[in-house]
Amino acid sequence: MNKNTIEQVKTRIEQVIANSNPYWNISPETATYVVSLLNTYKPMRVLEIGTSIGYSAIRIAEALTVWDGELITIESHTERFEIAKKNIAETGLKNIQQVKGHAPEILDGIRGTFDLCFFDATKYEHLSYFNALKERLNPNGIIITDNMLSHEKELAAYKKTVEDNPQFENELIDIGTGLLVSRKL
Ligand SMILES: C[S@@+](CC[C@H](N)C(=O)[O-])C[C@H]1O[C@@H](n2cnc3c(N)ncnc32)[C@H](O)[C@@H]1O
Repeated sequence: MNKNTIEQVKTRIEQVIANSNPYWNISPETATYVVSLLNTYKPMRVLEIGTSIGYSAIRIAEALTVWDGELITIESHTERFEIAKKNIAETGLKNIQQVKGHAPEILDGIRGTFDLCFFDATKYEHLSYFNALKERLNPNGIIITDNMLSHEKELAAYKKTVEDNPQFENELIDIGTGLLVSRKL
């Protein structure tokens, strides 16, 4: 891992985000907020659904190196998966496991529990991710869900389900496209 190389890869992707964001990466501000949550909760095992070209994965994994945490990140789209692979390899980060596949079909095959999950894939599948993962989230574990404000309508049923679940306390954060931060009690 080389700090300068990580900075170079991040800066390069941030320029793409600033131009037209063709790969739908979270904004640098959103990533910084996610990193601040990571620094607070220090999760050891993080799952991301929706790698795209690896921007959030790199931001998350870089933070996790401080306490030896690891990231598993899932992407179904072949071209974006391969671009992410190159970007991640260039950073030298070794704590990212990339998984290629359609999340609802492969979640069962990824063993173990998680301390933090980041949902940033197809909006109408979030409920299925939540149902598949809520029991595999450790106590005090966090689910961060993106696009809660940009896709308020599409995610209304998801939001209601999570908010009605007494196992979770929730906070909606008005940053980027809107994050729901759900902590398991
Ligand atoms: C918003 S982008 C992710 C951006 C990334 N988290 C970042 O900020 O750098 C969403 C990605 O999720 C992927 N995706 C959508 N549905 C998926 C699924 N069911 N399983 C795996 N990946 C999925 C899409 O191909 C797309 O690349």
